[in-house]
Amino acid sequence: MKTRVFRYHPLLVTLHWLLALLIAGALAVGFFGLAAMPNTDPQKIGILRVHMAGGMLILGLMAIRLIVRMLTAKPARATSGHPSLDRITPLFHYGFYALILAMVATGYATGILAGLPAIVFAGSGAPLPTSFTIYPTRVAHGYLAVVLVGFIALHGVAALYHQLGKKDRLLGRMWFGRRALPPSAEQ
Ligand code: HEM
Repeated sequence: MKTRVFRYHPLLVTLHWLLALLIAGALAVGFFGLAAMPNTDPQKIGILRVHMAGGMLILGLMAIRLIVRMLTAKPARATSGHPSLDRITPLFHYGFYALILAMVATGYATGILAGLPAIVFAGSGAPLPTSFTIYPTRVAHGYLAVVLVGFIALHGVAALYHQLGKKDRLLGRMWFGRRALPPSAEQ
């Protein structure tokens, strides 16, 4: 019989909030650090190093998160009271995963096209290309980042709607504490 739980597994909760911080950090470094800085700036390689390593860490933690999600008991699917919204919610969540993967893929592809592994991690001393926007993958990376910000905003609004509007304690499912539901509780 499947264990009935109120909350997600603590490892999944830890990964969720850690990834939220890392993704917000990657977006902030990208928009406010990298995009605004000319490639001739001597500080750019250091910032690229942080951004690229952070992106790869995000990919690794996302893979672990997916595995933990598949292997551990999950609370019953949340309902909003709007059947059409409830139907698109899983698609939205898969879209989230796909977007983050696409961010890493386009970032990584840009890095390869521009020869960044040697410049940024191996200290080859070669200059950065004049601009990364000559690579279509870089352009896609920028547009996808804007879509990702939209997804994050919608995700936050939905969580607040549950927490404050429906008052169904949805946020508590993604926090630490006793997980088991009493045997009498409805799933
Ligand atoms: C979830 C992961 C990631 C997020 C959220 C993210 C976010 C961003 C953002 C917001 C920008 C600026 C976009 C703009 O203003 O047009 C950017 C630029 C960039 N990112 Fe990422 N990124 C991620 C992963 C990666 C990875 C894994 C790499 C490479 C291994 C990478 C390489 C780059 C490069 C080369 C730029 C261009 C910098 C420039 O044009 O000066 N990114 N990223």
